[in-house]
Amino acid sequence: MVPASVERVHTTDLLVRRDDHRRCEVRESEFAPLREGQARFRVDRFALTSNNVTYALLGDVMGYWGFYPAEDGWGQVPAWGFAEVIESATGAVAVGDRFYGYWPMSSHAILEPVAHGGPVVDDAEHRRALPAMYNNYLPASAPDAHTEELQSLIRPLFASAWLIDDFLAAQGFRDAATVLITSASSKTAAATAWCLARRAERPALVGLTSAANTEFVAGLAGYDRAVAYSDIASADLAGPVMLIDIAGSADIRRAVHERFGDGLSWTLGVGGTHMSEISGLAAPQEGGGESEIFFAPTYLEQRTAEIGSRELPEMISGAESEYLEGVARTWPITRASEPDAVRAAWIDQVDGKRDPAGGTILSLVRS
Ligand SMILES: NC(=O)c1ccc[n+]([C@@H]2O[C@H](COP(=O)([O-])OP(=O)(O)OC[C@H]3O[C@@H](n4cnc5c(N)ncnc54)[C@H](OP(=O)(O)O)[C@@H]3O)[C@@H](O)[C@H]2O)c1
Repeated sequence: MVPASVERVHTTDLLVRRDDHRRCEVRESEFAPLREGQARFRVDRFALTSNNVTYALLGDVMGYWGFYPAEDGWGQVPAWGFAEVIESATGAVAVGDRFYGYWPMSSHAILEPVAHGGPVVDDAEHRRALPAMYNNYLPASAPDAHTEELQSLIRPLFASAWLIDDFLAAQGFRDAATVLITSASSKTAAATAWCLARRAERPALVGLTSAANTEFVAGLAGYDRAVAYSDIASADLAGPVMLIDIAGSADIRRAVHERFGDGLSWTLGVGGTHMSEISGLAAPQEGGGESEIFFAPTYLEQRTAEIGSRELPEMISGAESEYLEGVARTWPITRASEPDAVRAAWIDQVDGKRDPAGGTILSLVRS
């Protein structure tokens, strides 16, 4: 039976034009009634980083618009954060249960949760073909709101960083003497450098970044050096080098290829923060060795099968806790909850105007 009483009757959504991500609107709609098997969640907070812009950018190609479908031409960008059950028509979750997971940029979301021994899985028909990692919701255990904010910012990116480190180390870095990481100021890159730097035997770690972010990157734990994109041509680095490409810029890849030629042994395409130059994700190699794309959900499935569905999350969350307490705990957090401020934060993120130091936490819940 579907309970009748809920704390409010409107959902507030940030909708983004799928063909022009700077065009966005905050809209209100009445709560849709729950069907049997569904539950309504209040999305208390979610993190905003370039990762979310990449979801929009690759929305059609990789299916990211499919998680929370919107009307024609519009999309709901998924985001990582925390939400609480406020209405339930399923035995899988009860009112008051709290979960970390993949939500729409909205005040509320409806899922079709099925219990999965601790975590729940959204079993809605339209999500079944999408990567499993995005459909899992973990019971929330953060002791306070600030820790939830930091976990929202770190968790998805740190897990990817841990997996990239694991992937590289398992192959002995293919004998690279130097690992170059583009968009070194990004959270994914910084966490990757931090994971790599903990290894006793490892290549030199060099962060490539915008001139404005060079000082910031040089100060991050993990990198041995920071080099501005504009200085790649004259960078004096030991080879062979490998490239972890988080910028996804064809221009930056070209500069690296021109500088290192056959000394570039391996390129791992990871991200696309430089969205105007996104073609870099599929940039052809001009000299240099092998190139492949790293997709964390796929490698996660492989490592889960090899290490175990209990053991692997424990390994990642142990390292994540160290990173949270040792690195992220002091990050300045920018918060926004007014619709205009949420819209402005999204547009700034699309434009690459957010400060890489610290993080942005949004909410569309109206008190
Ligand atoms: N393949 C995977 O499985 C996987 C997993 C996790 C993340 N990722 C990807 O990794 C990337 C990084 O995500 P994140 O959330 O960690 O990023 P983030 O922390 O928000 O990164 C911010 C940095 O990205 C660069 N940047 C952002 N917007 C820009 C713009 N419009 N123009 C130029 N530079 C811009 C700048 O770095 P610089 O000045 O240093 O260039 C900026 O400091 C995303 O594309 C994400 O989707 C991929």
